[in-house]
Amino acid sequence: MATNRTFTMIKPDAVSAGNTGAIIKLIEEAGFKIVALKKTQLSPERAGQFYAVHKERSFYQELCTYMSSGFIVPMILEKNNAVEDFRKLIGATDPKKAEPGTIRNLFAKSIEANAIHGSDSDENAAIEGSFFFSQLEQF
Ligand code: PPS
Repeated sequence: MATNRTFTMIKPDAVSAGNTGAIIKLIEEAGFKIVALKKTQLSPERAGQFYAVHKERSFYQELCTYMSSGFIVPMILEKNNAVEDFRKLIGATDPKKAEPGTIRNLFAKSIEANAIHGSDSDENAAIEGSFFFSQLEQF
């Protein structure tokens, strides 16, 4: 059964461009409640741990370098059918393929600098949320 939480992070390109507030507004207008939020920066090693599932992919090193290049804004979000609805809200990984009005269509610069991450399953949402937030911060 689907849980009602997902995990997201606004990526360095969108934070440095000053789009954090506009993106959070779209997220809240779509009915998501913010359970936890912080502004932080990953080291290359921590980025490598977060994206370990992609370590065999050709872009892994590039992705880790990029994701540790500036501030990010990780969040845990709550809504019915959160994982699936949030993936719809952010749009396709490649912004050229993202539907009009989606967050990546509006704010992403490239497949790497694509503004925002969204968990792809309930299981990963729980793992990724706990990567950034303690249990006490997840209430
Ligand atoms: S997904 O969401 O897992 O289905 O998307 P996927 O295509 O598998 O991509 C996984 C993450 O890798 C990033 N990505 C890339 N980074 C750099 N260069 C290239 N070519 C590239 N292709 C994909 C993509 O933004 C995904 O990051 P997250 O944070 O999971 O959205």
